[in-house]
Amino acid sequence: MAPGLDESELAAYVEDALSRVASASGPAALGALRAELTGRRSTLAKWHRELGSLGPDERRTLGRLLNEAERAITEALGERDAERAREARAERLVADRLSLDELVDRAVDTPLARGHRHLVTKTRDELEDVFVAMGYQVVEGPEVETDWYNFEALNLPLGHPARGMHDTMYLDVGTSESVVLRTHTSPVQVRSMEAAVRDRSLPLHVVAPGRVYRRDTPDASHLVEFNQIEGLVVDEGITFADLAGTISAFTSAYFGDDISARLRPSYFPFTEPSAEFDITCTICRGARCRTCSQTGWMELGGCGVIDPAVFAAVGIDPARWSGFAFGFGIDRCAFMRHQIADLRALVDNDVRFLRQF
Ligand code: PHE
Repeated sequence: MAPGLDESELAAYVEDALSRVASASGPAALGALRAELTGRRSTLAKWHRELGSLGPDERRTLGRLLNEAERAITEALGERDAERAREARAERLVADRLSLDELVDRAVDTPLARGHRHLVTKTRDELEDVFVAMGYQVVEGPEVETDWYNFEALNLPLGHPARGMHDTMYLDVGTSESVVLRTHTSPVQVRSMEAAVRDRSLPLHVVAPGRVYRRDTPDASHLVEFNQIEGLVVDEGITFADLAGTISAFTSAYFGDDISARLRPSYFPFTEPSAEFDITCTICRGARCRTCSQTGWMELGGCGVIDPAVFAAVGIDPARWSGFAFGFGIDRCAFMRHQIADLRALVDNDVRFLRQF
């Protein structure tokens, strides 16, 4: 029998090798051990070579034992490798863990930039507050309207010349030109009156803010898509004086006591008499400047006493009820109050502009 190779020596060798594998730490140490235990110059390899000089029986027995030893050591190395990888991963997880406390501390030191409501939304909210404080209820209506609500019920039958004042965008739905993007918030008047008749809930004091559309070329004072707020009162004994008082109360509540309102005779098919209302120029405070074309006033909206034809369209008895309505631009209010040079800034979404309000 060759020196160094017998069963007990092999068993002792394997036991020693396995314990060294178990205690090897670090990938470098493990790599070196793998070379030493299984490489070409390893004891096992040497013993393999020596098998040739043994008798057949011994060679078979020892050969099998040698193979088993080799497999046991290789397996142990593989397992230790996997274990090492798991340990390394666990260490990395600990090292990479983010401390929430630390993050919170950092956030407190440098707070994240916070957004806020858009100027138009703020303006709309503030206008609603003014009217709610005066006893109005806020209602909404659809932006896609039928010709009937947007025009017909408002005493603007097909072919009426005043339709030309509205640069209407039509939707390709139903019969031609029967569905529109609403050109004003006045159709919400009609819907509110219809609902009040149905529910027998007159009198009515509502404001209806919302988006409206007109086929227009955007410029410093026009947008294709903008916002209006509509007011409607239907009650007993309502007169033009109530309308004038309401406009004046709203103007000082929203723009301040040094800004007043005036009414100018005008025409709307759904009101009679009708007026347009102006407020003191917010730039020159009435002293006359370029922005107000040297008049000291800026135009804000339209208003009037509800035309009996509109009451007839929704089934309200004009002998008992009367009312007034007004409508003006929300964007325009923001534009005037904050002296914005170009309305388009409201839709550009440039945070340098928006952040100021
Ligand atoms: N709907 C009108 C417009 O958009 C404004 C208005 C509303 C006029 C209510 C009178 C009464 O031009």
